[in-house]
Amino acid sequence: MHHFHYRKNELYCEDVPISSIAKKVGTPFYVYSYATLKQHFDAFDGAFSDVGHLTCYSMKSNSNKALLALFAGRGGGVDIVSGGELYRALNAGVDPIKIVFSGVGKSLSDLEYAVTSEILMFNVESPQELLKLNQVALNSGRKARISIRVNPDVDPKTHPYISTGLKENKFGIGVEEALLQYEKAATLDGLDVVGVSCHIGSQLTQTSPFVDALRKLKKLIEQLVRMGISICYLDLGGGLGITYDNEAPPHPKEYAQDIKSELASSDWTLILEPGRVIVGNAGILITKVLYAKTSYDKNFFVVDAGMNDLMRPSLYGAYHGIQPVKQTPGEKLTADIVGPICESGDFLAKERLVDPLAPDDLIAVMSAGAYGFSMSSTYNSRPRVCEVMVKGDRFEIIRQRETFEDLVRGESIPDFF
Ligand code: LLP
Repeated sequence: MHHFHYRKNELYCEDVPISSIAKKVGTPFYVYSYATLKQHFDAFDGAFSDVGHLTCYSMKSNSNKALLALFAGRGGGVDIVSGGELYRALNAGVDPIKIVFSGVGKSLSDLEYAVTSEILMFNVESPQELLKLNQVALNSGRKARISIRVNPDVDPKTHPYISTGLKENKFGIGVEEALLQYEKAATLDGLDVVGVSCHIGSQLTQTSPFVDALRKLKKLIEQLVRMGISICYLDLGGGLGITYDNEAPPHPKEYAQDIKSELASSDWTLILEPGRVIVGNAGILITKVLYAKTSYDKNFFVVDAGMNDLMRPSLYGAYHGIQPVKQTPGEKLTADIVGPICESGDFLAKERLVDPLAPDDLIAVMSAGAYGFSMSSTYNSRPRVCEVMVKGDRFEIIRQRETFEDLVRGESIPDFF
């Protein structure tokens, strides 16, 4: 359920007509629905309410401060993958004791920052990282709580670029090796072994790969117990998919049920790192038609948002629904929706049946709340777009549109020229 709908042929976000936002902020822009974000967070978090758990929103999917503050206010933590994300999270008021840190390439300064911030747990992804983290902790006179991110070698049956738990993927440590690393970690004075973690991929539309991974982790934990290492956190990562087109992913309730029944009466605190399922369908990208043209019988609508603003179609061939902001009568036509960037890979939709559009018409690119703005860039020197939050009949800019001055900030021409 999301709160983007038509009233008298006009697209609204909650009680605000999209066209009135466009009038105020210009185009392109991302707009998020507060009610949808809240509902999605609560549905996910609530599905685990009968077990000890912590929902650590995966902020790489959308790291705007306003969203972080909203989820933190509802009891959520975050999953981070960089010092920058830690900074954003702390800046938005997220409690450090609700932050988990994953990632194969945590730098020394990232580790130092997170150790001194006293976050909940580091999901360690290599033997060398384990040693580096131990050293950082010792240097700061603290203990770092760790889990090892295990690569369980299960097939998440999703796009290869977003599969992360197969043995050929760079993520985590294989099950056998993980056992040895746990043994090692238990001897290191800077570390406190508290958990086991995994993340097998993104946009999963079935629960069976999650359950398969969980079974492998349970076996590993049994072996750890036999070695005298006890675990209190079980971090299952994120990955639950959403409907972009006609996918039918499980409801969070169903996902939670399958996980909980596999856990039976264990007393681990579950950590979950959902990203897309919370924000994906809570945001859309609004763009304006610049030109309509037909070239060799092929119809194109050139719009003012491009692959730099929403990279998913170019990068993964991802599908995003295209909807008119004002529905117009008339025969639909098949067209490509393309951006202004100088690359043929710059498209938002291909061969799509759309309303007859004309210059200045607004269109909505649907399901763009996750990995939309957060993956955007300034390629072709295009300032990043603004982000807007709607709540009821009100809206507010939650990130200003960047300016041309922003584009050159920090650049300089060397004196030796
Ligand atoms: N935890 C970890 C360690 C992750 O790497 C990810 C996503 C998540 C949680 C959240 O996964 P989610 O619940 O959002 O599926 N840019 C791609 C998605 C990349 C996902 C990377 N990791 C896309 O646009 O589809």
